[in-house]
This record gives sequence, structure tokens and C-alpha cells, in this order.
Amino acid sequence: MPSCRICGGVVSELLDLGRQPSANRFLARADIAREFMFRLAIGMCHSCTMVQLIEDVPEEIRYHDGYRYRASGSATHRRHFARVARELLATELAGPNPFIVEIGCNDGVMLETIARAGVRHLGVDPAKEVTELARERGVNVLDAFFGDSVAEGIRAEHGSADVIFGANTVCHIAYQDSLLRGVDTLLGPDGVFVFEEPYLGTVISQMAFDQIYDEHVYYFTARSVQQMAQRYGFELVDVGRSPLHGGEIRYTLTRPGRRRPSPAVGELLADERHRGLADPVTFQRFADAVAKIRDDLLTLLRDLRDRGSTVVGYGAPGKTATVTNYCGIGPELVPFVVDSTPAKQGLLVPGSHLPVRPPQAFTTANPDYALLFAWNHADEIMAKEQAFSRRGKWIRYVPDVRVG
Ligand code: TYD
Ligand code: ZN
Repeated sequence: MPSCRICGGVVSELLDLGRQPSANRFLARADIAREFMFRLAIGMCHSCTMVQLIEDVPEEIRYHDGYRYRASGSATHRRHFARVARELLATELAGPNPFIVEIGCNDGVMLETIARAGVRHLGVDPAKEVTELARERGVNVLDAFFGDSVAEGIRAEHGSADVIFGANTVCHIAYQDSLLRGVDTLLGPDGVFVFEEPYLGTVISQMAFDQIYDEHVYYFTARSVQQMAQRYGFELVDVGRSPLHGGEIRYTLTRPGRRRPSPAVGELLADERHRGLADPVTFQRFADAVAKIRDDLLTLLRDLRDRGSTVVGYGAPGKTATVTNYCGIGPELVPFVVDSTPAKQGLLVPGSHLPVRPPQAFTTANPDYALLFAWNHADEIMAKEQAFSRRGKWIRYVPDVRVG
């Protein structure tokens, strides 16, 4: 039996998505033979309820030099993080000479606003190719994996932090122990640790099984985060909703007894109990629905191929690897996908090896159907692709397979 990375409790398996690659490790054809694969499965801890990967992928493989993820890849993300930064500037960073540290600053999409306001800040991120973009935006970056010793170095140089922030980062870090000890070292006595991450409640309600991939080691709930916070000497004092990736939760932790927890915490905990988010029956239903999505999607794509219809994939987010590898969708069913990220173009989707092309290829191919992998950006994409929508059809696969 695997044991919980947070509390050492017994983890029992909930869902197996088969052999999978590292989801953002887009590769050239020449590197196929050396591709890293692992068994992608999640389980839940019996004692702290943390849902987590059964096996994980070493960080050097996940965040290698050619790491392709760009946080500012959509207008929605850019607007959202500018708003988050402005909120922090107006609240937690409004005191004298404030200091904020972002764990996993990526291309600087959030810290850019902070830097422009002239506020002391530091982004910590090991993916050099991406942090180069942050530096170009005037953001200070330390190329490192955040942990206890890195936190000590930062404190020695800059003093303690008023805010430690993370977005789609904290759930990526397998060793929360070193992370939370680092936060403990660096955070000032009245500081806040704020992080927004994919939410298990959203994964379940939207059947977003493609949010499950190697980078997401944990699938948080208010309940599991609260237990984790307590374990490391923090208190969960607030939760809020964030619209990214289909609906995330932003958690605010402080040192114990510093702030009165907001009513939102109790409300979300009650909602999770009501929805059975720690209940094995909920996951059995989820697993059945996921298997049905796979069967329906494969049947549809094979049917379209047999009828001579053309299908192109739209967007190559990390999610694409999960859905294509789990379902067994290769270039014979979806000849290529288009994505606006230059660093992904010309490479192959990990595992399933669908070629990634620039967005113009979509217009040129003029397909009958578009399979929407970047479904969390549907509004932005629909607004951009009105010409296609008038003659072609979109295929969606969450929360179920739909053509329309
Ligand atoms: P994103 O939602 O940022 O990420 P994740 O990998 O965490 O699931 O990924 C969206 C991808 O979709 C990104 O590679 C950019 C691409 N994209 C387009 O190709 N066209 C678009 O119009 C938009 C909004 C995104
Ligand atoms: Zn546990």
C-alpha cells in the first residue's frame, strides 16, 4: 500500500489512467525512443483525505530546461493575475516596505504588476527558459526549487516575506514538507501564504480527469489543505474561488490564531461534506464516467475517420497528454493539434505524439471538426474562431462527449 506524502497514512487507489508521459514534456520525433513514461493513478489518504498521485515523476524530468508551460498563454490568465496582484498590493502589501515571494513565478505573469508598482519581490522558479521571459518583464527571479534552505537564503538577503504566493505550483511539489518548512522560515509573523490550485471539487463536478497529470501531485480540498496546514503549524483562514482551469480555489494560510477564519472556510468544508468529496462512492462514480468518456470519444473519432471527416485538435495544454494517452488517440485519429505557444510548435504531444502546429495551420486545414483540448479557454477560443464555428463543429469531452 502506498503511503501519504503528507501524513504517512494509507493511500488507496481511486483511478488509473494508464501509462503516461510527463505532460508538458513536448518532444521531437528523434527523442521518442527515450521518452519517460510512468503509471498515472490517483489515490486518497484514509487519514488526512489528501488525494494524490500514486507514483510521481522526478522534478528534474518535469521541469527540465525545455519546460513548455507559459502561464501567460491566454488573455484570461493575464487579466486574472494582474487582478490578483492589484488585490495583494491594496491589502497584504499595503504596509511599509513590503516584500512578496512567488513560488513558481513562471513567465512573471503575476509579479510583473508587482514589479511595475515598485514593490520588493522575488520569483523562485527552476525553469530557466520560462523565467527568462519574467526577467524581460522586469521581474527579479531566483532559478531554484523552493524549499527550506532556499527560503533561509532569501530571508538572510531580503528579510521575511509579507506574502508568499503560488499559483498552480503548490500542488506540483511532491515534498510539501520542505515547502512548508520553507514557508515557515520565510514568512513574517503576520504574513500570509496564498496559493490557488486545481480543486478536486471541480475535477469531480466537471469530469475534468484531464487535470490529472504528473505535475499535479495533489488534488486539494479545503478539508485536506486544512489538515495539511495544521500539521505544519499554519491555519487555513480563507478560501476563495478563482476562474482558471475550469475553477480553482485560492487558499490563505497564516500562523495560528493570527486572523479570524472567514465564514467561507466553514461553508466550503460543509459543501465538500455534502458532495461527498472524501467518499469512495463519489470516486467510483467518477471513474465510471471517465471510462464512458473514453469509450464515447474513441467511438466518435473512429466513426469520423471512417466517414472521411477531418479532425484537428485545438490547443495543446498539459491536459492533452492525459486524454490522448488514456483514450489511445494518436495521429491516425487526430492528425495534428494547433497551439499558440511558439515553444510547443514543431514538437509532438508527449506519449500520443500528435504533431503541434501553429494556429494558422487550423485555418489552412479547414477541418470538419475541432477537438477542443484547451476547453478551459473555450470563451476566448470561440470568440477568435467564429469563422470556423459557422461551418465546422466543435467536439468537447468534458463533462461528457458532445458535438456542436
Ligand atoms: P493552459 O490552460 O494554460 O494550461 P495547462 O497546460 O495547465 O492545462 O493551456 C492552454 C493552452 O492552449 C496553451 O498551450 C495555449 C493554448 N491556446 C491556444 O492555442 N489558443 C488560444 O486561443 C488559447 C486561449 C490557448
Ligand atoms: Zn494523509
